[in-house]
Amino acid sequence: MKPVNIGILGLGTVGKGTVEVLNHNAEEISRRLGRDVNVFMVSTRNVENARRICSEQTLMTTDPFEVVKHPEVDVVVELFGGTEIAKDLVLEAINQGKHVVTANKKLLAEYGNEIFAKAEEKNVMVQFEAAVAGGIPIIKALREGLAANNIRSIVGIINGTSNFILSEMREKGSSFADVLKQAQELGYAEADPTFDIEGHDAGHKITIMSALAFGTPVNFNACYLEGISKLDSRDIKYAEELGYRIKLLGITRKTGKGIELRVHPTLIPEVRLIANVNGVMNAVRVDADMVGETMYYGAGAGSLPTASAVVADIMDISRLITADTGNRVPPLAFQSGEVKEQVILPMDEVVSSYYLRVQVDDEPGVMAQITKLLADEKVSIEALIQKGVIDQSTAEIVILTHSTIEKRVKAVIAGIEQLPCVRGGVTMIRMESLHGRNG
Ligand code: HSE
Repeated sequence: MKPVNIGILGLGTVGKGTVEVLNHNAEEISRRLGRDVNVFMVSTRNVENARRICSEQTLMTTDPFEVVKHPEVDVVVELFGGTEIAKDLVLEAINQGKHVVTANKKLLAEYGNEIFAKAEEKNVMVQFEAAVAGGIPIIKALREGLAANNIRSIVGIINGTSNFILSEMREKGSSFADVLKQAQELGYAEADPTFDIEGHDAGHKITIMSALAFGTPVNFNACYLEGISKLDSRDIKYAEELGYRIKLLGITRKTGKGIELRVHPTLIPEVRLIANVNGVMNAVRVDADMVGETMYYGAGAGSLPTASAVVADIMDISRLITADTGNRVPPLAFQSGEVKEQVILPMDEVVSSYYLRVQVDDEPGVMAQITKLLADEKVSIEALIQKGVIDQSTAEIVILTHSTIEKRVKAVIAGIEQLPCVRGGVTMIRMESLHGRNG
């Protein structure tokens, strides 16, 4: 069979990895696919550099629009990232009737609906395995492997930078700022790490998975984002003493009232598998009605792991190019007419349990005032511990609550912060048991 011609936009870390995977495993890929994958054209700022990586025959250009418009290119592989030029390029590629592979989570979480609609209109495929959790084939699992299920929830450690920082803070007792500096020196964290540590990157990924799981349009604007930059290593230590780990989780869950879509630091029991995913690794736990709980673990970033996902998408497209469009797997897993808006629950309506920490005057009656506020809002206490005495007159209290609706906890916190015996604000971290059905 005639080789499939790909045009790669961007020869950075993942672009180089893609060429390397295609070269290194050319024979195996061709044995599986029944045809070769040919890097026909590359758009790069540094043609000289690209020459060292690509074959003599690969066409080079500094103008990415030449790639998307070239009549010989079958599949455009967008690895620019960002949403400005990448969006124009992807839409133009689709307009030109090209299939698209992209690793661009931001683009899909923010503009996926427009891109998928255009792809349907033009009868082309848009594949994005590398956009979520790097080398872990979670998109394939959600779209195909779990297709016989009603998915109930997805919980993921889907930002390696944050997971590295939290793991180091726990293991070494270091502060957030110190570990971030170290992560930057090691090249794990970007010079501007905001996107990773404030939850945006995880938000993009959980938004995409939520749409795939529940058959909704992508809706990044509705995703609640809270990062790890304000976490105190004391909370990590106290959580550990209580049998929990703190992880930055992306969570999406279908409830009777709507869909939860959120990213925030979360206490999870240390006995759960996902609590033991450390360093830069990623993991996604899916709970579905027929299969129950499944877990996917692996490298969420890096040149070759991400390229592994990119090349798998190229192979998928290569197989399906000649298939009737109705027989292809739809981009959002469900037939486009079945992709329907559903209510995304505001955080006040989310049900969770909570870790609260507060510093108070160390004097009689303080505990009673706090427990009264909890009782007034019908928030049940799971554990209440005086964690330590900060100085002669100040004590620190940690409270774990049972499940309750978030607005009640916020009302309790507002009440606690008004008490004259309370010093400073209340630290609140959500907790997930990740136990049992839809846990
Ligand atoms: N910056 C991401 C992370 C990898 O730290 O996991 C790419 O999404």
